[in-house]
Amino acid sequence: MFDRLKEDIRSVFHRDPAARNTFEVLTNYPGLHALLLHRLAHWLWNLGLKWLARTISTISRWLTGIEIHPGATIGRRFFIDHGMGVVIGETTVIGDDVTLYQGVTLGGTSWNKGKRHPTLGNGVVVGAGAKILGPFEVGDGAKVGSNSVVTKAVPEGATVVGIPGRVIVKSVSEDDARRREMEERMGFDAYGVTDEMPDPVARAVRSLLDHMHAVDERIENMCKALHKLDSEYRNGELPPLDDKDFDCVRDDVGDSESGRA
Ligand SMILES: CC(C)(COP(=O)(O)OP(=O)(O)OC[C@H]1O[C@@H](n2cnc3c(N)ncnc32)[C@H](O)[C@@H]1OP(=O)(O)O)[C@@H](O)C(=O)NCCC(=O)NCCS
Repeated sequence: MFDRLKEDIRSVFHRDPAARNTFEVLTNYPGLHALLLHRLAHWLWNLGLKWLARTISTISRWLTGIEIHPGATIGRRFFIDHGMGVVIGETTVIGDDVTLYQGVTLGGTSWNKGKRHPTLGNGVVVGAGAKILGPFEVGDGAKVGSNSVVTKAVPEGATVVGIPGRVIVKSVSEDDARRREMEERMGFDAYGVTDEMPDPVARAVRSLLDHMHAVDERIENMCKALHKLDSEYRNGELPPLDDKDFDCVRDDVGDSESGRA
């Protein structure tokens, strides 16, 4: 139990740069108070002590301004920042490492019993004031923009903003597109690495690709100039790069990855 408590406290430090020390977090974070009281209420709810569970949930709401139904299932390292005005419905399911900001509603749109609230995957972030309404899934790692109203399933890793919530597609710059194409051609895949993650190997490979591209361009221009001087120049083509040439590199990478596993 204390391990879980420590984990919940650590998650505050990871997600709020303003958190300074454990005592401050334990005493001043209503999101943490609401979570701890919910863990107790949920345990009582599952034991069948429904009235007691609901009463603890109500007291928690008086103290924190956060209303979590004791029936809601909440994963590990859950963090509610600021908290006031958060409402989490009875049949909500929340994965691990989820973050909510103030004013979020995880609600239903019908009065039917049964599953009527959303299911949030691992690592989901829901911005201040957002409403997620209905029994659908918000995929792992998805982000919901502040004040959005989401009424349909959200794919894994997507960012949704607006009313009604729409997935935003970030435009890929020409340079990024070219890098991706080159990486694919040579079989390089920075697996699981996003632009925000500082993977030094991926960065080094990308710098090399940029450099290769710049050198290629320069050679191409020099060839054009030489071709103008002598039209016979550059009649012989360069040997094409064959996919098979990279098999040994892939084997090496595969070996080192299986060694790591
Ligand atoms: C949704 C969110 C995660 C997007 O962050 P991001 O991936 O860095 O995306 P960007 O900021 O580059 O925005 C992408 C586009 O979506 C728009 N956008 C971002 N958030 C939006 C929102 N909540 N509502 C409407 N549009 C939004 C931007 O204006 C931008 O539009 P453009 O491409 O036309 O310029 C972020 O804006 C957000 O709302 N985070 C919640 C933060 C929060 O609630 N903090 C509370 C602290 S107390």
